Amino acid sequence: MRAWKCMTWGGPGQLELGNMPDPEAGDGQVEITVKACGVNFADLLLISGRYQVRPDLPFVPGMEVAGRVTRVGPGAGSFGVGDKVAAYVKYGGYADKVVAPVTQVVPIPESIPASEAAAFPVSYGSAELALERAELSAGEVVVIGGAAGAVGSACVELAKQRDAIVVACVGDEAKEKVALACGADHIVSSRSRHLHEDIQHAVADGVDVIIDPVGGGFFEESLRVLRYGGRVVVLGFASGKIPSLRLNQLLVKHQSVLGSSFGLTCAKNPDLVAAKWPRLAELLETGQIRPRISHTRPFTELPSALQMLKERKVAGRIVLS
Ligand SMILES: NC(=O)c1ccc[n+]([C@@H]2O[C@H](COP(=O)([O-])OP(=O)(O)OC[C@H]3O[C@@H](n4cnc5c(N)ncnc54)[C@H](OP(=O)(O)O)[C@@H]3O)[C@@H](O)[C@H]2O)c1
Repeated sequence: MRAWKCMTWGGPGQLELGNMPDPEAGDGQVEITVKACGVNFADLLLISGRYQVRPDLPFVPGMEVAGRVTRVGPGAGSFGVGDKVAAYVKYGGYADKVVAPVTQVVPIPESIPASEAAAFPVSYGSAELALERAELSAGEVVVIGGAAGAVGSACVELAKQRDAIVVACVGDEAKEKVALACGADHIVSSRSRHLHEDIQHAVADGVDVIIDPVGGGFFEESLRVLRYGGRVVVLGFASGKIPSLRLNQLLVKHQSVLGSSFGLTCAKNPDLVAAKWPRLAELLETGQIRPRISHTRPFTELPSALQMLKERKVAGRIVLS
């Protein structure tokens, strides 16, 4: 089968398109023939050797796929050959075929295009876990960083499903449009040098929850407007800067900072993740959530797609098809 291979730690330009043997579906796994792949920010970290997962070289990156089940391993439950599915895989997705544990595989309705399905499991799975971790409830104010990014835009949509008030932090006008289309109530610019004042201007009484896939200045500025009892959920550091924190601030304002990892939860608590899929798939089927596709590119253009992501030029998800 065709596969993009990471032969050495580095950037998108060092990936090589070549051939690999087909993977084999083991216990509790299915083989998926891939129709489309979601291009993730974490792929950049994975191929550079800076991700929490460091596979042996060479390996095939790619963590979000859509396609059809073409083989079923023993103990794979109700999945059958021909099922249309999307899946999260630790890596291996940028290939003609991949295997995935069934707890990370979501049945996809025939009405949903493969490109949208490929932008679904990681974004919405991560967003749902993060909002649950924050215990975000109706009427609360949530600030979402990178709100037009793949995970950020999913957070905006799912926060609106919870009837929260969403302040979306985005970098340009195209991203503003995406965040508004996802239902954001207020927009603030991630390029502003007075982010905390801009948030305060939008929501004078402060903020209950911060969802942070960005880190750096976003974390520091948004924390300044977090209310008594507020919660921050740390998802990642797209800015490349890992912030630090003086714990006295949490004490005097009775606040919490929580980490949320979709990938690790898939490994450590697969049943919790599997239990989320039916409702998320129903929201997808009924059009209550809609993955935002920024660009669709051929499979052969993975390096340039990753480069666009690195340069912050993507509003929503790039998909290879
Ligand atoms: N913990 C989890 O469960 C989990 C799951 C999936 C992903 N993640 C992490 O979440 C983050 C976002 O992933 P994603 O796939 O949604 O990525 P994405 O689509 O590229 O979105 C990232 C957003 O971060 C913002 N950003 C700010 N400074 C940036 C910079 N210097 N370079 C690039 N982007 C910058 C950009 O928004 P503006 O330009 O609009 O400011 C961009 O839209 C990554 O760190 C990823 O590793 C975590």
